Amino acid sequence: MIPKEQKEPGIERFFKVRITSVPVDIPLHFDMFLLVGDKPIHFRKPGDCLSKDRLRSLSKHGATEFLIPTEQRDAYLEILQKSVADPDMERSQKARIIKESAFVHVEDLFTKKDIRHVVESSKNLVQEMVSFVSEDVESAVSLMRLSMHDYYTYNHCVDVAVYSIALAKKLFGDDKAMLFHAGLGGLLHDLGKRKLDKKIINKTTPLTTEEWEEIKKHPDYGVEFLKDVKAIPEAAKHVVHQHHENFDGSGYPRGLSGDEISKLSRVVMIADVFDALTTDRSYHKAVTPTEALNTMFAMQPGKFDPYLFKTFNKNFEQRGNIELPKDFDPCQARHMVSQEDPEE
Ligand SMILES: [Fe+2]
Ligand SMILES: [Fe+2]
Repeated sequence: MIPKEQKEPGIERFFKVRITSVPVDIPLHFDMFLLVGDKPIHFRKPGDCLSKDRLRSLSKHGATEFLIPTEQRDAYLEILQKSVADPDMERSQKARIIKESAFVHVEDLFTKKDIRHVVESSKNLVQEMVSFVSEDVESAVSLMRLSMHDYYTYNHCVDVAVYSIALAKKLFGDDKAMLFHAGLGGLLHDLGKRKLDKKIINKTTPLTTEEWEEIKKHPDYGVEFLKDVKAIPEAAKHVVHQHHENFDGSGYPRGLSGDEISKLSRVVMIADVFDALTTDRSYHKAVTPTEALNTMFAMQPGKFDPYLFKTFNKNFEQRGNIELPKDFDPCQARHMVSQEDPEE
């Protein structure tokens, strides 16, 4: 508990969680604050419970997020992990909790100094996602696509992991190892972006050739981060390195083609593009899943493994009507400008 006389921490010392992702009626071993105006107000001390009614009334009054002190992040994640093991918990609540803990975890992946520890703990999270998603793929995917926060990269990694597990499930059935590797690869696929200049990642104007070349290095940066992390299986490391390799050899960083690209990398690539299209970005509005599938079909042949794509979208038959630039890339798909014509 934070004593009253102690100065409450500034907003930058907190992380945010959605109020609907906090388990109800169990003791919560962390402080919770509510943001009133721009000031964090202490709301619950460690050990307190939150009732359903209280949560409902907060939501009625417009509250959407709790703030939790950064140093209590592990206590928060621990509670979430324990609570999803409860067989009586409603499915929708479980989905929210898994997604929220995944989001907080990805935030750590991109910001914590001790990357090895965070990467290793990705395994527990992905195990949870696998057992949840593999129970009932359709409802799990729709529930887990709840829009959570607006920081794109974190959401993206979580969603790509979910889609990758769902597609792996269709391909490999109950082969838990494959589902696990697909989820882990999906979660970590853009890890290399840690090393990119944030100005490039967040740029809303067209990229220069040089900036684009820098972005293309993120698969190499990703494997570099994972090089000595033995706990992460090779299959997931391949995904990190190969998720921008196109089936026809036109991708990067190495221009691999067909079977040279690991199957799970081909799986995650489909998930990556699907999520890019169905999410609002600075350069396009989100399209519906059907439109996304149409669009992806129009990108054939070349980008995806045709068999895997067919599996992703079993009933797909018609060509899409949304035209994407030829060099569309789920990572940074804005039009690139040449250096001779930077104002284009
Ligand atoms: Fe990427
Ligand atoms: Fe991505």
